[in-house]
Amino acid sequence: MLRMGTRRPRLATALSEALSAYHVPTGEHSRRVGSMARQVGVVLGLSGPELDWLWQAALLHDLGKLGVSTGTLSKPGPLDRRERKEIECHPAIGADIVRACVAGAGARDSEAFDQVAIGILEHHERWDGSGYPSGRCGDAISTIGRILGPIDVYDSMIEPRYYRPRAYRTDEALAHLREGSGSLFDPAVVPAVIEVIERGAAPSGQGAAAAADTAGDARGAQLA
Ligand SMILES: [Fe+2]
Repeated sequence: MLRMGTRRPRLATALSEALSAYHVPTGEHSRRVGSMARQVGVVLGLSGPELDWLWQAALLHDLGKLGVSTGTLSKPGPLDRRERKEIECHPAIGADIVRACVAGAGARDSEAFDQVAIGILEHHERWDGSGYPSGRCGDAISTIGRILGPIDVYDSMIEPRYYRPRAYRTDEALAHLREGSGSLFDPAVVPAVIEVIERGAAPSGQGAAAAADTAGDARGAQLA
């Protein structure tokens, strides 16, 4: 039997490995977002359980793509209406998987996984309410969801996509974050994300093609 404190990371790692086995580019993207989220969390002053929840939510933010066909994830062109709706289900699917995995867990683990599930559910919500699945805005979005949004978009931009072979340069992606601060993204979070990117701790943008990820974002669609 796993001790308290080890069960959550092990489960997060196991679920992440399942996602990587299903779709390699999504797994690679998720690991990069996880690494960057932990660094951004430290800059924002998170520690202990909060930092742990952030990392796990980041690692699993696209877990729900297990419920999206690989044909849609790897489509080499724009998504049609049905495919876009399929993609937009992935935050809820991921949150449901995490909650189902811990059904019957103790109160302390249940609270932790609930925080992780909410972060997964809300990583495509946007500060101005233009995101999905609920269109929440501002502080109504969880802290984890508000931190994951700009990190996810940044990593999506600096990698090639099946539907967009050219990756954006780091300066182009940074400009998008700055332009979106206070509209798409929490203005209290963007400076921390930029700090981590600029000190060179974040991914460089040269890597394998990533999955269709932020294709459903309201204004990020043409950039992600
Ligand atoms: Fe996503």
